[in-house]
Amino acid sequence: MKILDIIKPNEDFLGSIETNNYFCPGRVNLIGEHIDYHGGGVFPTAINLGTYAFVTKRVDNEFHFLSENFRAYGPKIANLNDLSFKKEDNWSNYVKGMIKKFIELGHQIDHGLNILIYGNLPNGAGLSSSASLEVLIGTVLKEEFSLDIEMIDIVKIAKDVENKYIGVNCGIMDQFAVGMSKENKAIYLNTNTLDYKLVPLELGEYSLVITNTNKKRSLSESKYNERREECDLGIDMLKKNKIEFDLVCDLNIDDFKSFEHLFENNTIKNRIKHAIFENDRTIKAVDCLIARDFIEFGNLMNQSHDSLRDLYEVSCNELDVLVDSYRSHGATGSRMTGAGFGGCTINLVKTNIVEEVIEKVKKDYLKVVGHDASFYLVNTSDGARVLKGDEIL
Ligand code: GLA
Repeated sequence: MKILDIIKPNEDFLGSIETNNYFCPGRVNLIGEHIDYHGGGVFPTAINLGTYAFVTKRVDNEFHFLSENFRAYGPKIANLNDLSFKKEDNWSNYVKGMIKKFIELGHQIDHGLNILIYGNLPNGAGLSSSASLEVLIGTVLKEEFSLDIEMIDIVKIAKDVENKYIGVNCGIMDQFAVGMSKENKAIYLNTNTLDYKLVPLELGEYSLVITNTNKKRSLSESKYNERREECDLGIDMLKKNKIEFDLVCDLNIDDFKSFEHLFENNTIKNRIKHAIFENDRTIKAVDCLIARDFIEFGNLMNQSHDSLRDLYEVSCNELDVLVDSYRSHGATGSRMTGAGFGGCTINLVKTNIVEEVIEKVKKDYLKVVGHDASFYLVNTSDGARVLKGDEIL
């Protein structure tokens, strides 16, 4: 699709077809799940599905938002003087939150904009549609108001908005991945120091297939925050017992073995165990990718899923059905990706059997779950950016 195909029917809303155009990708996490708020290492890559913004200036103080994906909500209007969170504003709260935070940080935003949004990421599917929208808006504000701000700061602001304005206590992985990624690379990010390494995502005879459960995620935000609270209980217990550390992922597997007897509550022990072992797996997975040991990389993906299912308990029947089916039909690695409770799996499959495996998984999933899964063979992508020319969406 050409950009004009989106802009032209919305000319009235935009006031012109002369727009400034922006893109921010989504992301898929290869391994390193639920440890970005424990200071662990994560290994995501940005994908070429994401969120687009088409922007024109306004002379007044109003921001007008319209989403092609949520046309039923109609255009939303927010004034620079009132950018407070309103439940009924739905998706545009992410946009308002970013503008509000930029202003609080002293950035000069002195007129309104018309912002048309179009996204080709499935929403709420664990591919970071919200981080994509937030970092997209940060990029729009930087360019439209010529602000002196680096991408890493837009990333931090977006996380802050998600935590304090939206109310999801997430880590920084998603915002970092969609802001800082480079095409053909995965990012190994130390979420404690924010040091990162770009690792070539060269998969040889293998492909990555993303599969969406198409399960409506419910309660995922409260469950997410609940996991964090459970981990806090474990952290308090360890600290009371004079185990010294700042963040859970400062601890290694030997440390865990030395204190595991201290846990009275098995659930809490499992949460902490997942974090420490997942961090270890992620370090190994990065080495495997560099060494092109895809079999071991796949094993680590499998172990990651099993731990998320059994110890961290963030998987669900639909995700497990997909994972089991992929594995039984020959995938080298299969795991849930993102927060869980629905959303997507990421699967490492030999390219020469991809089509056949997808067909089989499709059938299994429909038979057991009763609705279709969706399959995406995606490419990697650079992080958020200004779009040049009439790119194809
Ligand atoms: C969500 C959060 C991330 C991360 C993942 C789980 O995507 O936004 O910060 O915690 O879940 O790894």
